[in-house]
Amino acid sequence: MPKVNVLVSGRSREEVQTAVDMLAGNSLCRVEGRVIANGHVDPLHGLSTLPDLLLLCDIQGYGELQSLADTPADERPAIVVFGPGDDPASIRLAMRAGARDYLTLPLNEQDVNELIDQIAEEQTKSDVRKSGSLHVFINGKGGSGATFLATNVAHGLASNNHKVTLVDLDFQFAGLCRYLDLTPERDLLEAIQAVDEMDEMSAEAFTTKHDSGLRLLSCNTDKLHLNNDIAPEQLISMLQVYQSFNDFVIVDLPRHVDLLSAAVLENADRISIVMQQSFPHLHDTARLLHIMRDELGINRSRLNVVVNRYSKDSAILLKDIENALHVDNLVKIPNHYRLTAESVNAGVPLSEVTRKASVVKGLKDFYQSIGGSNEGDSSSSPRSLHSLFRR
Ligand SMILES: Nc1ncnc2c1ncn2[C@@H]1O[C@H](COP(=O)(O)OP(=O)(O)O)[C@@H](O)[C@H]1O
Ligand SMILES: [Mg+2]
Repeated sequence: MPKVNVLVSGRSREEVQTAVDMLAGNSLCRVEGRVIANGHVDPLHGLSTLPDLLLLCDIQGYGELQSLADTPADERPAIVVFGPGDDPASIRLAMRAGARDYLTLPLNEQDVNELIDQIAEEQTKSDVRKSGSLHVFINGKGGSGATFLATNVAHGLASNNHKVTLVDLDFQFAGLCRYLDLTPERDLLEAIQAVDEMDEMSAEAFTTKHDSGLRLLSCNTDKLHLNNDIAPEQLISMLQVYQSFNDFVIVDLPRHVDLLSAAVLENADRISIVMQQSFPHLHDTARLLHIMRDELGINRSRLNVVVNRYSKDSAILLKDIENALHVDNLVKIPNHYRLTAESVNAGVPLSEVTRKASVVKGLKDFYQSIGGSNEGDSSSSPRSLHSLFRR
């Protein structure tokens, strides 16, 4: 049964901790607490993907509820508010914010756990089709490091007890396998053609397993495929099969805008656009973002820009990038030419080359922001962020 990812949010550290403690032993959920501070009122501020359930407690004033009421319904998770029972204005606002329930403080352990039971049951019914998140990497300009980051993020997640399939969607050059020193024996196209009869076991048979547990699905470069040979609906159905039994499906998507890539982008839970600090990168990334936001209608909450080979001494600063691209959630990955070249040339993920360099730390922060810190613990610690960020 998929776990309910719960975010407890509120103004009071004590109240948030109380709720987190109440849910810590509930095996149906994963819980994370977050104290709202620094002038923010949006409990979902800065989250790139949403939890299944937001428990809002002790919010003092109506700013948080107003902010949720102003958020489009399809960008809100299920919400339950805990507040004072004698405040009709806050109850009304909670309803406008789409809250499914309003419970009176103080928190009651039984109420909270019953709520999780209900949501877990609903989730099992509605979520059979899809459980893992689809995360796409694409470069804003060739050579930015999209393939390298997709590989190392997927490897980081797999090494931290997540079930991950990495998909190389380059149908003609399929070079990602070399970053992991793997040779795919089966072909991605065979998997697409077999989608109608595919179950977990047959889907896994199309992949090649890395020692870390990561599985790679890729074309076999001996054969030449044209994008026109592939139906977008079949490709999406195939990705959904892999999503149904993985925590993450990570796609390395070449930068062509065509029907196939548009379908993948439209179905992605999160899209990381990788660029570097130069004017040509900025120009091309701005164009790609324009296509995604304005022509494909992709919501900006699903997009994030990764500045790879980041250097603080570059002539192009982060704030220039933020201003030019109208984004505020940049991810920075430090530059380290020698180690990165060593990793790529040996076909060994970077964290297996070294654990010390700042680029490894940058990558770790990145994959933890996607999948949570799950290190050394396969028993799904209730305090970890394990898979919290799932839409
Ligand atoms: N953070 C980094 N520091 C230094 N070099 C990097 C970094 N990330 C990637 N590279 C180098 O950039 C090269 C191109 O990366 P690649 O992932 O193939 O780009 P893309 O898929 O965007 O075309 C890789 O061979 C790698 O050695
Ligand atoms: Mg690439």
